[in-house]
Amino acid sequence: MRTLENQVAVITGGSRGLGLAIAETYAREGAAVVIASRSARSVEAAVQSIRAQGGRATGLACDVGDLAQVEALAAHAVSAFGRLDIWVNNAGLSAPYGPTAHLPSDEFQRVIGTNIVGVYNGSVTALRHFVPQRRGKLINLLGRGDNQPVPFQNAYASSKTWVRAFTTALAREYADCGVGVYAINPGLVTTEMLSQVQAVVGYEAKLNPLKTVVRILGNPPEVPAARALWIASAATDGRTGLNVQVITPAFLLSRGVRAAWRWVTRTQELEMPLNVETVKSVI
Ligand SMILES: NC(=O)c1ccc[n+]([C@@H]2O[C@H](COP(=O)([O-])OP(=O)(O)OC[C@H]3O[C@@H](n4cnc5c(N)ncnc54)[C@H](OP(=O)(O)O)[C@@H]3O)[C@@H](O)[C@H]2O)c1
Repeated sequence: MRTLENQVAVITGGSRGLGLAIAETYAREGAAVVIASRSARSVEAAVQSIRAQGGRATGLACDVGDLAQVEALAAHAVSAFGRLDIWVNNAGLSAPYGPTAHLPSDEFQRVIGTNIVGVYNGSVTALRHFVPQRRGKLINLLGRGDNQPVPFQNAYASSKTWVRAFTTALAREYADCGVGVYAINPGLVTTEMLSQVQAVVGYEAKLNPLKTVVRILGNPPEVPAARALWIASAATDGRTGLNVQVITPAFLLSRGVRAAWRWVTRTQELEMPLNVETVKSVI
């Protein structure tokens, strides 16, 4: 029997990047998956690609910042597949790199609307299904800055600090009702979030080290998706409140050894393309 046989999983931001990899992994392991993102066309393409691989999938265009749309997503999942077992709040975005007051305010607020309000909307919607049925797994995505401030990436990093605190509080509030609440920090993942970035004019060069850091520490989305599968599986039953990190001391050591070996053997590594778009400064 496959790991998620007969389960139904909602994955927000499931149209590309890490969310799509999680949806594909869950579908391969027997789950029926429900994908959401703001673009109906991308949702449809992701659904078709999972079906072409033999998976069960449906999807809905949904902006996670709007509670009514998130509730409609949950209703769509139940009406398509009859139940709801797993909810992954994966949708996320970042603001242009630069000092906070220099950023256009709508760019900053867009991050809050998705990374904070969207995670609140997804979490309460999932819990309103899970708590009465006394089962279900809620998985929230952390990211850079979840445990410390990150200057010049303040919108994104402080939103992830919030997600971490919010998720831990939910896990404690719902500790004794059969529901699991988990957080995962996927490390550096080679997706559009890292390859298509914006910077405030004058701050572009500060992003130059990104390529090297990603080359040494980056993972394809399938690697954290496998961890997200483990969290959704029965292996974490009774372990609510887990905070799973893909970058561990052992991982750092193995990547250090790999980088040293490649340097010694002069082996070329594949570089991630990095496109930096410049945005105007408000100040
Ligand atoms: N990539 C990394 O290195 C990294 C590291 C740590 C944590 N993470 C976290 O992992 C998650 C996925 O990141 P990723 O790298 O896969 O990003 P990505 O490739 O940019 O994909 C983001 C996904 O979220 C969707 N999305 C964005 N805003 C949305 C909204 N308001 N409502 C619904 N869907 C929305 C996007 O689709 P639409 O644009 O069509 O809406 C897309 O499907 C994020 O929470 C991110 O913070 C990523």
